[in-house]
Amino acid sequence: MTKRAEGDARSPGKPSPFSRKDLLDIESITRDDIALVLDTAESMAEINRRSIKKVPTLRGKLVANLFFESSTRTRFSFEIAERRLSADSIAFTAAGSSVSKGETLLDTAKNLMAMAPDAIVIRHSRSGAPHALGRALDCAIVNAGDGTHEHPTQALLDAFTIRRAKGRLAGLHVAICGDVLHSRVARSNVWLLIKMGAHVTLCGPRTLLPAEIERTGARVVHRVEDAVDGADVVMILRVQKERGGGLGYPSDREYFDQFGLTPERRRLAKKDAIVMHPGPMNRGVEIDSAVADGPDSVILSQVENGVSVRMAVLYLLIGASGDE
Ligand code: CP
Repeated sequence: MTKRAEGDARSPGKPSPFSRKDLLDIESITRDDIALVLDTAESMAEINRRSIKKVPTLRGKLVANLFFESSTRTRFSFEIAERRLSADSIAFTAAGSSVSKGETLLDTAKNLMAMAPDAIVIRHSRSGAPHALGRALDCAIVNAGDGTHEHPTQALLDAFTIRRAKGRLAGLHVAICGDVLHSRVARSNVWLLIKMGAHVTLCGPRTLLPAEIERTGARVVHRVEDAVDGADVVMILRVQKERGGGLGYPSDREYFDQFGLTPERRRLAKKDAIVMHPGPMNRGVEIDSAVADGPDSVILSQVENGVSVRMAVLYLLIGASGDE
């Protein structure tokens, strides 16, 4: 099994316009690659508006979806994206596989590789798991969320949603509030938004903010009112109780009182601000239902846009190489 070098084009004859073999994180990709995904997603959105939402672009390609952690939005949108591009796909969950008998991730992936997938989409509880596959395997690897590290396709769909609502990313004020410490969504969004010229303010309890996060270029505040004041975009993060986020504050009620996005706090943002949440939401903890379901909420648009963005990522990684 040979390993293509990171950054190599996928075909010597007609290089892919995307400069990566894999999509592992946002930290290491270029502004040009981000812009290319967002522009390609616009073409995919056009397909998704048709009455027959299917094109033959990835016919004959095989995508393996490896979800070692639960998922609703990411998993289904990748599956829909694969179907709309006519790829064959297989779904893998740890329960019911030989992982439950002790097989390692790498052995599992090498055995899948023997069946010649063109891409592996992986969600894993361990930060760096997709990177390990990317180093070891020749096919394209897409990170669908690794531990508390990154969730690159979420940040790309968030950027796509913001760009559609606001027409740009550069110069916008984006407040990201909540359990930043455990949030791979926040990390990917901070990298992406700052690369694209937005101003990012992070807010949360001191116990739920990573040390030295300011090094990314984001501003850090501890009052949600200060974060939201004058913002163009308010992005609320879930308290990740399964990763210990609930231990970072005394009770859900006190969290909501101090950090919950209420209609009163939302009014501190710009009049035309949009409200985002990657889901799943803890209603009444980090966000009031009146805001989550209110006129400024683009939360379901984020979900809809996830299909177009994931179609774009798969197309750029395995469909645009010219070796069909
Ligand atoms: N936003 C997100 O990753 O949601 P899921 O966990 O449902 O995939």
